[in-house]
Amino acid sequence: MTVQDNFRLAMRRYIYSVSIMSNKDEKGNLNAITVSSVTSISMEPPSLLICINKSSRIHESIRVGTKFCINLLNKDQRELSNICSDEDRYDQRFNDINWNNDNIPFLENAQSNIFCNVEKLTSFHTHTIVIGLVEDSKFKNTIDTLTYVDGEYK
Ligand SMILES: Cc1cc2nc3c(=O)[nH]c(=O)nc-3n(C[C@H](O)[C@H](O)[C@H](O)COP(=O)(O)O)c2cc1C
Repeated sequence: MTVQDNFRLAMRRYIYSVSIMSNKDEKGNLNAITVSSVTSISMEPPSLLICINKSSRIHESIRVGTKFCINLLNKDQRELSNICSDEDRYDQRFNDINWNNDNIPFLENAQSNIFCNVEKLTSFHTHTIVIGLVEDSKFKNTIDTLTYVDGEYK
């Protein structure tokens, strides 16, 4: 077993919460990608980070000063998570009626929505670490978070 194999299997024991990162680029095109790499950084200032693969379609639209939303999914949003992580279903990502695309696109029925402004981008090999300053957050009272462990939703 290689270092990578062991690392992959070790990481599969983590329980991840599943989110969709969404934004609107400068031409008005909508982007959405399923992510599990969301981590809060600090409260002063309120900030979080996400690791985004440089090969993903959303990647080139993420620039310092642009805005995005992290939508934490509910257990009944598994199919939307599949759509937003399937490159062949890119054109289906905004079919869901719960998207509000008036400004920064966000899912009105998500568990929570965290609206951010990109503060800093750090390149690390295949990925970019995106640091966002939180500008606003919404959340539902009931907690029913979609989780992912050992390559499966739980
Ligand atoms: C549960 C789950 C979590 C994921 N987390 C991330 C992530 O944090 N960062 C990332 O770049 N891709 C992540 N992916 C993979 C992307 O969603 C997937 O490669 C997507 O198709 C890339 O976007 P594109 O099709 O628009 O290029 C995750 C996929 C799943 C199913």
